[in-house]
Amino acid sequence: MPGDIAAAAEILGNAKRLVVLTGAGVSTESGIPDFRSPGGIWSKYDPREFTFDRFCASAEVRAGYWDMGASLYPMLRDAEPNAAHRTLAALERKGGLQRIVTQNIDGLHQKAGSSAERVIEIHGTALEVACLSCGWRTDRDSIQQRFADGDRDPHCDCGGLLKPATISFGQAMPERETAMAFEDAEAADAFLVVGSSLVVYPAASIPGVAVEHGASLVIVNREETPYDTHADVVLQGTAGVLLAEIAATLDLPITDA
Ligand code: APR
Repeated sequence: MPGDIAAAAEILGNAKRLVVLTGAGVSTESGIPDFRSPGGIWSKYDPREFTFDRFCASAEVRAGYWDMGASLYPMLRDAEPNAAHRTLAALERKGGLQRIVTQNIDGLHQKAGSSAERVIEIHGTALEVACLSCGWRTDRDSIQQRFADGDRDPHCDCGGLLKPATISFGQAMPERETAMAFEDAEAADAFLVVGSSLVVYPAASIPGVAVEHGASLVIVNREETPYDTHADVVLQGTAGVLLAEIAATLDLPITDA
């Protein structure tokens, strides 16, 4: 169906149980590169280098991970939400937005004012560090500083490996959060995808589950996705601009958080 702001606004504005799936494309206007666009993260780093098994097996790979973090993490930490994040926070304030399932690790939905309990970070967060043995968690700043000060392979006091609290390729997905995301999708009456290529599973299968259970589907993305043919409305373009237009159509103020 052609990209119709009014049709998208009607679906999103009337939803009683709206579920949103966001990907890296919702944060590029905040200065954070996505993964698969030209110039994206996977054009600079080889994803095969950053699998969970390689991280666990090699101190050299772990040092590479923390090195990559030394440049990428401050950009994530200091980024500000954009109009797309703020529109989703406004939709929650309006009522009807049940859940945001984000593949992003930048915490920008919460920074924009979305309630933390309504955000599922299905690929974890880059803003914290976790011990792979005992589960101890701390802020990322302190461990990146330890690395900068010469500890090239940070370990937990329990002896376990410390890793940024993201879900790497090959790492188990967070069970409870993943189950909640699928349950919410099954119960949704409307589903919105913003800024995802929808090629990484299981997250990419969530919109299909919502549609199978009767939800209307709106996709906002700069390029085609494999699910466009299942969508009621496809808005191809820039997420911040398009979501701001939807907010304006619904008279939703997108205040700075
Ligand atoms: N507005 C709209 N769409 C955008 C914008 C924007 N400003 N910027 C980028 N996009 C689109 C791109 O065209 C692309 O289709 O967002 C999509 C981003 O796709 P990916 O880079 O593949 O990111 P994502 O879908 O989140 O990747 C999923 O892959 O590598 C893993 O764990 C990583 O969570 C990530 C997962």
